[in-house]
Amino acid sequence: MGLFPPSKLGFLDKITAMTLPWYHKTTIYQIYPRSFYDSNADGIGDLQGIIQKLDYIHGLGFETMWISPFFASPQADLGYDVSGYTDVAPEYGTMADGLKLIEETHQRGMRIVFDMVMNHTSSEHPWFKESRASRDNPKADWYIWKDSPRPLLEEGSGVRAKPNNWQSLTGGSGWHFDRQRGQFYWASFLKFQPDLNYRNPEVKKTMFDIVRFWLAKGVDGFRLDIFNVIFKDAEFRANPFSFKLIPTDDDPSGFFQQAKYTLNQPEGFEFAEQFRQVCDEFGERLSLGEVSGNRQLIRKFLGGQKNDGLTLVFDFAMLNFKFTAGYFGELIQDIEATYPDPFMPVYVFSNHDRRRSMDRLGNDLRKARLLSMFQLTVRGVPCMYYGEEIGMTNSRLPFAAALDPIPHKFQFVPRFVFDMLGITINRDDVRTPMQWDESVNAGFSSAPQTWLPVYENYREVNVEVENKDRSSLLNTVRTLLNIRRDFQSLQEGSLELLKDLPHHILGYKRRLQNEMVCVLLNFGETQKTFPFSAEERLFHLTPADVHQENSARLGAYGGLILKLAS
Ligand code: GLC
Repeated sequence: MGLFPPSKLGFLDKITAMTLPWYHKTTIYQIYPRSFYDSNADGIGDLQGIIQKLDYIHGLGFETMWISPFFASPQADLGYDVSGYTDVAPEYGTMADGLKLIEETHQRGMRIVFDMVMNHTSSEHPWFKESRASRDNPKADWYIWKDSPRPLLEEGSGVRAKPNNWQSLTGGSGWHFDRQRGQFYWASFLKFQPDLNYRNPEVKKTMFDIVRFWLAKGVDGFRLDIFNVIFKDAEFRANPFSFKLIPTDDDPSGFFQQAKYTLNQPEGFEFAEQFRQVCDEFGERLSLGEVSGNRQLIRKFLGGQKNDGLTLVFDFAMLNFKFTAGYFGELIQDIEATYPDPFMPVYVFSNHDRRRSMDRLGNDLRKARLLSMFQLTVRGVPCMYYGEEIGMTNSRLPFAAALDPIPHKFQFVPRFVFDMLGITINRDDVRTPMQWDESVNAGFSSAPQTWLPVYENYREVNVEVENKDRSSLLNTVRTLLNIRRDFQSLQEGSLELLKDLPHHILGYKRRLQNEMVCVLLNFGETQKTFPFSAEERLFHLTPADVHQENSARLGAYGGLILKLAS
């Protein structure tokens, strides 16, 4: 059970064991540290809290944890604004806690991945403070500084022309004037997150050394924040016009311009390979990129034919999934056609920035169970956000009191507009405390007040209640993770979509050598019976799901995992 360093495997194990590197056959659980478990009663989750809950994650069967940033930060973007890459923010604990977390994770045979925010720092980072102080200090060229192309537009007005038309990822110009230095700096995200200048070799070297620092401490890899943003056009050419207002996951053009010169530059693909080489100095380490763009683009960040770029890249288009067999069938087909083996897709349906999947599923637990069955059996690395395993749903917190900076930027837009578009603009809504039990604060904290209010449904939706219910989402996820671990074909086998199945049924075969497992999923609300031969039933999702002799029956939103004769 679990993962062990290869040296601890016996001879026989080695023969039957992995044909793939561990990071291509693992399962990932994302933890937002502020919301997972508060060990010191200050209302904020912390590293000791994660340590105390490691047995929960291990018991569920997840093999790798990705921890959102807990480094020194003014927390203006809740940790995605780093002011010290090798320091732990005091509300999360100390460096000793960080090292203990790595050690305790490894003791359980699990892996741990940190979150590297390389594109930008906080404007409070000492590097930026130094850089903005003058035009000739040692860090003067560490950020992206530009003069205004024209003097003051109107004498005395204080209005200056921006260096070019580039828009930030959050809308509006990403150029911000700094009075101290008398120049504009570029920020791809928010004003207080100035972009580092990776065309300066010193910056790249410093960041790679920080990566090495953590790898040497035993971290198993990184999730890489807005990785496709790191390089901007060297000549600062103007972005062309686009009719598109809102950026989408498969096309980042938006705010009426194409992101031609601000994202996805060729230097970024080389950077992916260089980053990978740094990781490889330490053996098999995971690098999981956050990239916005279509599948051809994802493929480029994964590197050449041998996957020598990032080991994994998120495919965010699927965050907007439609709950139909047709949608998921096409998704698989498209992924397998664009980046097939030896590339490995990541299947992700929510994260700390986006709607929770329950919200998209109309809070229907039957659908959530089927979705988890798909996610944990399809060819790919599943990445599950904390709370998804119990069906936590979006909260609905007031914009004005938001701790997330994004809604403040859009205060002028009425909320119903975002509702209509299905966009969670206040990310606080998906970051509420983990719901452990029925007690005060859902068992998350014993503080009088938690950093965000616990969501109101915690008495029904929590780990303790769901542990007792055999058919709960939580127990479904646990059982599926167990099956995945027992059948190597589910971890690393090939995938073949089954044809000629009844309407609403999705089916695929996973195969590794002579082990063959088949998954049948009913995305419809009516029971379906059809001819199907298999050797043995390994799992059924609803009581109505049966396999008998040569036929399969699937109840509403039912699912079967069957072993096929080899
Ligand atoms: C990524 C993170 C998000 C953060 C942003 C800026 O999209 O997931 O939480 O606000 O980058 O770092």
